[in-house]
Amino acid sequence: MTTLTRELPKRLVPAEIKAELDRYVIGQHRAKKALAVAAYNHLKRIRARMLGTPMTGVRKSNVLMIGPTGCGKTHLARTLSRFLDLPFVIADATEYTEAGYYGKDVEVMIGELLLQADMDVSRAEQGIVFVDEVDKIARRSQWAVTGAGNRDIGGEGVQQAMLKLLEGRQVFVPTNVTQHWSKHDFVPVDTTDILFLCAGTFSDLHLYQRRRNAPGFSATDRAAAPDPAPAITERDLLRYGMLAEFLGRLPVRVQLGALTEDELLDVLVKPPDSAIREYTDLLRQDGVTLQCEESGLRAIVRRALEHDTGARGMRTILEDVLQETLFRAPELAGRTIVLDADFVEAALQASTGAPEEDRPPPGDPVTRTPRR
Ligand SMILES: Nc1ncnc2c1ncn2[C@@H]1O[C@H](COP(=O)(O)OP(=O)(O)OP(=O)(O)O)[C@@H](O)[C@H]1O
Ligand SMILES: [Mg+2]
Repeated sequence: MTTLTRELPKRLVPAEIKAELDRYVIGQHRAKKALAVAAYNHLKRIRARMLGTPMTGVRKSNVLMIGPTGCGKTHLARTLSRFLDLPFVIADATEYTEAGYYGKDVEVMIGELLLQADMDVSRAEQGIVFVDEVDKIARRSQWAVTGAGNRDIGGEGVQQAMLKLLEGRQVFVPTNVTQHWSKHDFVPVDTTDILFLCAGTFSDLHLYQRRRNAPGFSATDRAAAPDPAPAITERDLLRYGMLAEFLGRLPVRVQLGALTEDELLDVLVKPPDSAIREYTDLLRQDGVTLQCEESGLRAIVRRALEHDTGARGMRTILEDVLQETLFRAPELAGRTIVLDADFVEAALQASTGAPEEDRPPPGDPVTRTPRR
């Protein structure tokens, strides 16, 4: 057995995993805890198998994360993948079809894991697959008008095909996922210990939710969210078009909320790779000091809240706000740019206003010459 020649995985307890996630992911504490536990159990499972005492009686803790756009689902997965020393693949469910149709077979997900593991099968068998956009493979046959007639090639078939991966069976995996594959290059991979994390927005789920007066979550769980979404039940997901067998193989469910104004503010400044830090560093290279005032950051956050895209749109807004400054950075050397509410408003107005020729001569938001 090749597994015994390799080192056992790092010993990490859930609190350590969560602490690492906390550095990069703001809020979403329930999701971070659930992922930390799932990752911890996964490491336990791998150690047990490597020590020759596989945990046969314990089910895998595959996870389903549900939350609005830009709340950090993919970001959580990427962050987790960075510090767990395991093969980790992020797959987009919409790229897959059931076998025989144009598109990737689901085995390709495992093929990519194999690639990550430098073609070492036993190492790939310890990996983690994050399947994003699973809400897009819901059964939609009641409306589907596809070239395949009533056949729902995009959704239900992919869920069906994924069952064998999720539950842990031997599958035959193409070894050359980056090229067109030929018939001969398949290797058997056992998916028993591969952990699956799935995520989706299920954004129009409310259409399928039955009206309920009583909220399903306790008040404390919901307190942090600005506009608390009602708890999503198994029945809601079934109505939405997820298969019972598919859901049954994702026993850990986490519902993420939209980020609050204060959390969005933290997203801008706190993580080591935050957008503000990045632009501050960029400008520092030109000798320009970026001084961020809370009023300015809040103005950016409010703009993002208006767009309803969570943290996703904030980097673009910041880019718009700083465009002129970045453009003129070389000539601004030695100056301090104060990013306050007035600066943000003026910069956004300048960047979204009428085409340049039609505009009255603009004030200079960068150096604060008044408009005339
Ligand atoms: N909770 C968070 N903490 C820190 N940064 C975040 C958080 N949520 C989102 N971001 C930032 O916003 C970007 C977009 O978020 P992400 O891709 O995780 O959204 P998502 O929940 O996967 O949305 P979608 O359903 O649209 O895919 C991330 O790359 C990250 O920079
Ligand atoms: Mg995403």
